[in-house]
Amino acid sequence: MTRLAILTGGGDAPGLNAVIRAAVKTAINDYNAEILGIKNGFDGFLDEGGIFPLNRDSVRGILPRGGTILGAANRGNPFARKVIIDGEEKVIDYSEQVVEKIRSLNLDALIVVGGDGTLGIARDLHEFNVPVIGVPKTIDNDIGGTDFTFGFDTAVTIATDALDRLHSTAESHSRVMILEVMGRDTGWIAIHAGMASGADVIIIPEFSMHIEEVVAVINRRHKNLDKTYSIVVIAEGITPENLLGDEAKTSYPDQEKSVFDAFGHKQYGGISHLLAKEIEARTGIDARAIVLGYLQRGGTPTPRDRFLATMFGVEAYRNAKSGNFGTMMALNGTNIVPVKLSKAVNELKRVPAELYERCKHFFG
Ligand code: F6P
Repeated sequence: MTRLAILTGGGDAPGLNAVIRAAVKTAINDYNAEILGIKNGFDGFLDEGGIFPLNRDSVRGILPRGGTILGAANRGNPFARKVIIDGEEKVIDYSEQVVEKIRSLNLDALIVVGGDGTLGIARDLHEFNVPVIGVPKTIDNDIGGTDFTFGFDTAVTIATDALDRLHSTAESHSRVMILEVMGRDTGWIAIHAGMASGADVIIIPEFSMHIEEVVAVINRRHKNLDKTYSIVVIAEGITPENLLGDEAKTSYPDQEKSVFDAFGHKQYGGISHLLAKEIEARTGIDARAIVLGYLQRGGTPTPRDRFLATMFGVEAYRNAKSGNFGTMMALNGTNIVPVKLSKAVNELKRVPAELYERCKHFFG
């Protein structure tokens, strides 16, 4: 193992710098190996100045820093790269150029830190004999094959703090406060932060609740239990149809238009406003919505995330050295183990029904 490279792709997550630092330090301490940084995900293989050496100095002081010193590009897919040619957006397959570049660099290993999209690209590049090692990253904690991903603990800590703060203002004004947290397809952040802060209702994409069920919990609290306020947590991936069924089509006909960006990617954020409006209309209680958004991804990682990310970085190097290519580092209990990239990437890790049912006992 004399020459390796590392890149970070997809949306950022607190702990990315800890992975980079751990991989760089382990590689240098172990074999005095040369380690290259690739800028802005796979784009760095194609862009001018996208490849540069990493050394002890480059990683000094980055352990507690959020973001990534390598940059991340969440649309940088070499198999379908979006480029502007003559003022027009085109999608072009650059994978051959990327594979060529990797070969010309004589890399013994490429460590790819990313979520399902980036790891999917890593899996596909492995088919072209690129010696990849994957490290899972997402605050959503929804990658298959691993018990936890780093960034999740930080996001849950931030969301829990927000919920704790919302309790007092909800109580002062006798309101329903709704916190919208990230989670496109899964409700891990919502469940963990909601349970940790004693939320009254938690709505997640895996087992959505109809608005009337939500209203029933709130009415029971306010009418039968003499409570003056309620706290609701909702994951961003909930749709108007989830909450309102067919009624959504007539009440919010424009909703679908506003959830796609110029590239056709679904953009989340805002369902809590619709929920607040519906709760107010159906209960007569003042309701307010707060979209926590990117605050969940920014800033310093928790100690737990720094530890997990560091272990992933160390094990990524060790597995590269053993030639375990085409694998992803995974947390299994207290051990980090390699699992097949092809398997992990195809498995979305959802909140299990039993866990959600248990949480529901605490609603209201
Ligand atoms: O994957 C993590 C995540 O935070 C999602 O919950 C969210 O929908 C998405 O990233 C948004 O990221 P971006 O706007 O950077 O694509």
